[in-house]
Amino acid sequence: DASTESLVRQWLRAARHTLILTGAGVSAESGVPTFRDALTGLWARFDPEDLATEAAYREHPGLVWDWYEMRRGMVRAVAPNPAHLAIAQWAAAHPGTVTLVTQNVDGLHQQAGSEHVIELHGNLFRNSWLHGCGRCDAHRTDTTHPPSCTACGALLRPAVVWFGEDLPRVALYRAQHAAEIADVCLVVGTSGLVYPAAGLPGQAKAAGAKVIVVNPQPSALDATADAVLQMSAGDCLPRLLAM
Ligand code: APR
Repeated sequence: DASTESLVRQWLRAARHTLILTGAGVSAESGVPTFRDALTGLWARFDPEDLATEAAYREHPGLVWDWYEMRRGMVRAVAPNPAHLAIAQWAAAHPGTVTLVTQNVDGLHQQAGSEHVIELHGNLFRNSWLHGCGRCDAHRTDTTHPPSCTACGALLRPAVVWFGEDLPRVALYRAQHAAEIADVCLVVGTSGLVYPAAGLPGQAKAAGAKVIVVNPQPSALDATADAVLQMSAGDCLPRLLAM
């Protein structure tokens, strides 16, 4: 409501360090389906948790590769929404005070102009090697489906964090450091179900930060929040972060 919003705006203006943590909900209004909303069409019968694993990739490389190719095509077809833009503009207007940490792999924050985005779960548009042999100085991909190294046969894989895999260490360290020094932690569009990302708001709160949740639905982080704004990110953030 308006009074909560004005209180939150005060917190944000007074903050020396703001940690912004985003999830799939910040990209929902761009047209990118969230993980736990029903996936549409061909993929509706698949649960991301069944596809986004190394075991799934080893068992059905073509299917999992095509799932990522479909998601890449979907993201290429959309644009950042007002929530992404509000975050980018706020951070640009308050240099050195905002750390943006995202669970998303869609690169839309960067497209909106955000810099130094901490991508805890990697990025759809980067690839890496599934257990390369380590001997090939530069893997050369051939036209198999999915692409594999012509020298050692290692499979190319999306550079995203699969369930059961560790997060990139440096990214996680930087995110946890930001939580330690944050005066305010703004949590946007995440169900708060997947750790360690979901642990950041609690860590910030324990270190003295005010925690704000923006989500049209209840989330697992509401209990940690000092303020919950049950609104969509595209409606709420342009107002919260208006200069
Ligand atoms: N504005 C804000 N929040 C929204 C909007 C919106 N327009 N639309 C949906 N949401 C909220 C939903 O209510 C939900 O709480 O976004 C959240 C999306 O939750 P998930 O689909 O669980 O996505 P996320 O929290 O990012 O998932 C975390 O889990 O699947 C893994 O690695 C994957 O990064 C992902 C992680």
